[in-house]
Amino acid sequence: MGQALHSQIDLHKVYGGVVPEIAARDHIRRLLPLIRSVLEDVGIERPDAVAYTAGPGLVGALMVGGGLAAGLGLAWNCPVIPIHHMEGHLLAPMLEEDPPGYPFLALLVSGGHTMLVAVNGLGIYEVLGSTLDDAVGEAFDKTAKLLELDYPGGPALASLAENGNGEAFTFPRPMLKRPGLDFSFSGLKTAVMLQVKKSMVEGNIDSVRADIAASFQRAAVDTLVSRALQAARKTGLERIVVAGGVGANTHLREELAARFNGRVYYPRLEFCTDNGAMIAIAGALRLSDGAEPATIIAKARWSLDTLSPPGTAHAA
Ligand code: KG4
Ligand code: ZN
Repeated sequence: MGQALHSQIDLHKVYGGVVPEIAARDHIRRLLPLIRSVLEDVGIERPDAVAYTAGPGLVGALMVGGGLAAGLGLAWNCPVIPIHHMEGHLLAPMLEEDPPGYPFLALLVSGGHTMLVAVNGLGIYEVLGSTLDDAVGEAFDKTAKLLELDYPGGPALASLAENGNGEAFTFPRPMLKRPGLDFSFSGLKTAVMLQVKKSMVEGNIDSVRADIAASFQRAAVDTLVSRALQAARKTGLERIVVAGGVGANTHLREELAARFNGRVYYPRLEFCTDNGAMIAIAGALRLSDGAEPATIIAKARWSLDTLSPPGTAHAA
């Protein structure tokens, strides 16, 4: 396997978040050289197929990827396979040596999504719960901003939390007592904001920053783990796949391992956050979905529920 990644983090850092137009333009600059270097690394001139992210996401960046994939499909005369970004995340553990068998429960936790999905087979997905407001990664990023940490805040907040006391502040886990499997993180975000303001007025913000980070992380992780355990109980599923950027969080991994009786699967750290390998493995598993070479699919919004198994034209 060969893979390469060009991160746009430095590009967006100065703005404190992703700027869609800049993201799309940088895709235009980076994609071809990146593809060329991967093919050189693995010594392949003409791949058997091209898979690309067809959504959901920022449509400018999606159009760049879709347009290039369609062009490469024509040039190489090979199938072009549109992939759902979140299907890529939930199939990322299939890149590892000991992949999970079906069925499994997927906890998908990224900057744009927080979801619990029953994965009954390839393309057979039932979304059991999702966030009603902010995604958990977004909550990490916004809290990090309040604590004056750099973008993307998740990893920075996690390392600040290592030096803090997670029991110093009791932040809410608002949805846990409610039925259903949805999430909400806006109440937690507001509680953290009020605490930051209070500590600033009291003049002790510097001494409690790490405690606030640790207490926030504890509340967010507790919410994710509790909901995942509720979903596992409800469905009887004995395997949990954790994927998406927040899946890189060590505290989340430790909590889930301590509280879940079944087995937990993760992609390796570099395949938790966005990467091309997860789209490639999804494409390999969906070879029979090859679209007409000139078709470009770019969907800003696209529910995972609407996918179907390979060969049944899910993306058309
Ligand atoms: O899956 P991903 O790379 O991109 C999206 O599809 O959104 O996820 C990025 C998110 C960001 O919100 C980032 O702050 C968060 O994952 N993240 C983390 C950690 N590493 C990345 N959050 C908490 N702890 C981490 N170690
Ligand atoms: Zn992602």
